[in-house]
Amino acid sequence: MDVRKPIIAGNWKMNCIIDEALVLANEINRAFVDENSCDVVLCPPFTALLEVSEVLTDSNVSLGAQNMHWEAQGAYTGETSAPMLIDTGCKYVIIGHSERRQFFAETNATVNKKIKAAMQNKLIPIVCVGETLAERESNKTFNVIKEQVLGAFAGISNIDASNVVLAYEPVWAIGTGKNATSKQAEEVHLFIRNLMAELYGREIADSIRIQYGGSVKAENVEELMKEKDIDGALVGGASLKANSFIEIIRKSIKAKKSA
Ligand code: PGA
Repeated sequence: MDVRKPIIAGNWKMNCIIDEALVLANEINRAFVDENSCDVVLCPPFTALLEVSEVLTDSNVSLGAQNMHWEAQGAYTGETSAPMLIDTGCKYVIIGHSERRQFFAETNATVNKKIKAAMQNKLIPIVCVGETLAERESNKTFNVIKEQVLGAFAGISNIDASNVVLAYEPVWAIGTGKNATSKQAEEVHLFIRNLMAELYGREIADSIRIQYGGSVKAENVEELMKEKDIDGALVGGASLKANSFIEIIRKSIKAKKSA
């Protein structure tokens, strides 16, 4: 099996004016500027992308955006395209976050279009999937995840699929302080990897990185990262404090080394 490099991303959501973003980005960058055993990604709000990008010049810490439109340009008021993200220095883009699905009518079909647009522009998509509490409680978790993954990857080639990062984010664990247990998460990660193997073959499936997201913090990240199919974390709240995010990354690297 390929060794998958861990990937930890901080999703700052709608937080941080530029001054705050600069402080946070500088502190994290100082800690990981030369890091090569883990990919570190910062996803600030759009208004701070350019300034954070400057902080990350010549750094191993990468820039990501939280969303994008599938068209390259046009009459889409309020939207941002892949070429615009590339222009600010983004390497990654989060696609299909549950908050986008819940509040902004994102669907599996729009997720699919966005992945294709990201690929065409050489942006690495971090594709989010995850079930709600009601879906978990009615034993629909695997059906929901399957539908989301099949919808997201419809018509995506093997080469493109091998460059995608996936994030399993149970909706009930996001921002609630109630993370999935490592066993609950691993079960879904393995399910996603096997689904990717059905779609793209074992070799590609084994090379794809799958992050866990939902109330990740320094206190629970090691246990999660020790699981075989958990390759990283997508961190919301705990990525807004440099100390806690730095600790999460350090513990993740340690957990993967000793796993
Ligand atoms: P959280 O958010 O870490 O605050 O739960 C995770 C996410 O939404 O990506």
